[in-house]
Amino acid sequence: MPQPKPPFTILGIETSCDETGAAIVVRHADGSGRIRANLIRSQLREHAAFGGVVPEIAARAHVEVLDGLIRAALDEAQLEFPQLSAVAVTAGPGLIGGLLVGVVTAKAIGAVHGLPVIPVNHLEGHALTVGLTDGLRPPYLLLLVSGGHTQLLTVHGVGQYERLGTTLDDALGEAFDKTAKLLGLGFPGGPEVERWAEGGNPQRFALPRPMLGRAEPHFSFSGLKNAVRLAARKLEPLREADISDLCASFEQSIAESVVDRINTAMASYISCYPDRRAWRLVAAGGVAANRRLRAALAGVAAERGFDLHIPPLSLCGDNAAMIAWTGAERLAHGLPYDKEFAARARWPLDSEAPKATGAGVKA
Ligand code: KG4
Ligand code: ZN
Repeated sequence: MPQPKPPFTILGIETSCDETGAAIVVRHADGSGRIRANLIRSQLREHAAFGGVVPEIAARAHVEVLDGLIRAALDEAQLEFPQLSAVAVTAGPGLIGGLLVGVVTAKAIGAVHGLPVIPVNHLEGHALTVGLTDGLRPPYLLLLVSGGHTQLLTVHGVGQYERLGTTLDDALGEAFDKTAKLLGLGFPGGPEVERWAEGGNPQRFALPRPMLGRAEPHFSFSGLKNAVRLAARKLEPLREADISDLCASFEQSIAESVVDRINTAMASYISCYPDRRAWRLVAAGGVAANRRLRAALAGVAAERGFDLHIPPLSLCGDNAAMIAWTGAERLAHGLPYDKEFAARARWPLDSEAPKATGAGVKA
């Protein structure tokens, strides 16, 4: 199959969790990108009754909507399959049933229309989104905070990631979701906690600030979640003001912990990139939508002389535009890809990172 030439017009497919995504992104020869279509179909309704994502329901829902979503994305971009340069698909990490739906679909399109199919790491999609939205090129320091991952990474280049810190237990989004659940709020928990926290008193509860001052920039959130549980139990039955204050105090504790961890990561980033022009902090993943966290990030970035870049809300959470863009970036940088690839439930961005001391199974 001949190597496509720029501009690259890429169909992106995302099915790793509970949103089905299909997008068309163009990457021009000068490195700029344009989204021609970015469609997302959330499965919130299917999972809401269970208070979390049910893998079998997720896979089935992807099967039901993916073909139609791809057709709709092509229609919106006014393109047909032969005009594409390649198909990029999330091959991991994520729920294996959903990943299989995307991978099989991408491979079928590739086989029928003679298109290359590029396997994309979902986390790399989050990591590179700022290239599409802000034209930002590596290096930069990345805070990746989603429902399944919480990491600090140095992005040295496209395809070159060094993990500085990770969570020892829950991911940050998971901590939001579990805290919402124990307070009887809806799913997904992040936006619910944020809504309740608004107007709440962030100083009312003296919750722990996890990992403060630790030498390595790792995270831990399960102790904080338990502290919320204990505080809530003491107050039962909870009044609305109690829930608001608990949510605000929880967010405040997270903001302080994350800022402390970022400060530590900035020190190692700076020792690698002493030139101030390289001092850029990027936040990505669904939790980067949180306003209190964003304000805290703006604070630490300003204090340390870093420029802060956060993708717009619509591209912070899961989407297929970031997958298409990552496929295009990999093509543009001539990175090899496995043509016989399989879906992978686990797929770390930095496969050489040592296991963090004290880390649980998910770290
Ligand atoms: O990146 P994402 O859309 O999917 C994953 O790859 O996990 O992240 C979803 C996570 C969920 O845990 C959700 O509760 C959290 O992001 N989230 C938020 C907010 N919006 C979404 N957490 C805190 N504040 C928010 N506004
Ligand atoms: Zn994600």
